[in-house]
Amino acid sequence: MSAEKSHVLLAVCGGIAAYKACEVLRGLQKAGCEVRVTMTGDAERFVGATTFEALSGAPVATSLYDYPGSAIPHIELAEWADAAVVVPATANVVAKMACGIADDCLTTTLLACACPVLVAPGMNVHMWQSLATQANVAALRERGVSFVGPDSGRLACGDVGEGKLAGVDEIVFAALALLGPRDLDGLSVLVNAGPTHEAIDPVRYIANRSTGKMGYAIAEAAARRGAEVTLVSGPTALPTPAGVRRVDVESAAQMHDAMLAEFDDADVAICSAAVADYTPAAPADHKLKKSREHLDAIALTETADILADLCAKKGPRVVVGFAAETDDLLAHAQDKLEHKGADLIVANDVSRPESTFGADTNRVAFVTAGGVEQLETMPLHGVADAILEAVLRMVAR
Ligand code: CTP
Repeated sequence: MSAEKSHVLLAVCGGIAAYKACEVLRGLQKAGCEVRVTMTGDAERFVGATTFEALSGAPVATSLYDYPGSAIPHIELAEWADAAVVVPATANVVAKMACGIADDCLTTTLLACACPVLVAPGMNVHMWQSLATQANVAALRERGVSFVGPDSGRLACGDVGEGKLAGVDEIVFAALALLGPRDLDGLSVLVNAGPTHEAIDPVRYIANRSTGKMGYAIAEAAARRGAEVTLVSGPTALPTPAGVRRVDVESAAQMHDAMLAEFDDADVAICSAAVADYTPAAPADHKLKKSREHLDAIALTETADILADLCAKKGPRVVVGFAAETDDLLAHAQDKLEHKGADLIVANDVSRPESTFGADTNRVAFVTAGGVEQLETMPLHGVADAILEAVLRMVAR
């Protein structure tokens, strides 16, 4: 995505899942989009316009006649939008869109939209499966309108079946995919993320402060930009990003095996995981007792270096590593670039609040054989996109 914020028009219809549109709005904002809202009168019965106004920080278009600052809100909003997302799309609004009916602010604005449109249906299973709705969906698809969902499950009316609004993350992902470049299409990207847990006994382990947020943001961004993504993850509390295949591991040894196995099918590997450098040499198979067994010293043995081992067999493939340091950042990063043989080291100073473990921002420098490029502090999704752009330049070389 470009540095300028993408504009997303969120069109909220009158279904019970209208409250989920609030989370979609937040998700889009978190991904760097500016969001404006139009909603039907029926939608206002479920969630008040005030809620969307507060969340979006802009007036909500509910009527063609009293939108602050504009006499023709439907045209202005349609021209402003880079993409429109209909959440939850009711059978009625899907039908109106298919027929070109414009009898309220939302449908009039959608009719005026020349941008890509994403529809996230949410309705009763029988209404969804009706021949009329299916014909309308087919007509819209034919005209280039994208759909996400609906999912199957228990519906608000008590019926079980297809018609449930797609997950919030899935809708946000599909909207971002409409907006962004698909410049990683055809590339297979392998990412590792998170900490590793090195067992002392079945209860205790040695770990580090990594949350995995940076690596998950990279995996999410790569999938959004069209790559086939495998994420080898240490223990984290994060949900799997949409469109990403996740392989869960615990220890450095397991992460090493998974990464080397997955690397055979990868074009690019990005090693953001905080892999333990040492692991207990002989983990106990039972819980060690304080009174009987000494826990005042743990014999450690060095783990294998995943990044270095990938680099040793990489050939023309692109391999990216990270350097998390508290001092002499660039010197250490330069050293890692040379010793491990990576194409790029993403260096971040974890002693700074904007780039420490768990932060939603990062301030990184790209260290390559060609020199050092210092980036500004950015949200994680911005850093992820910047890394992928650097990768693309190297893949193309
Ligand atoms: N790394 C790895 N395997 C290890 C240790 C580190 O693949 N066993 C990778 C990390 O994923 C990261 C890079 O190496 O991409 C740098 O990790 P870091 O912990 O900063 O460096 P170390 O090589 O462990 O050196 P030091 O701890 O002395 O800084």
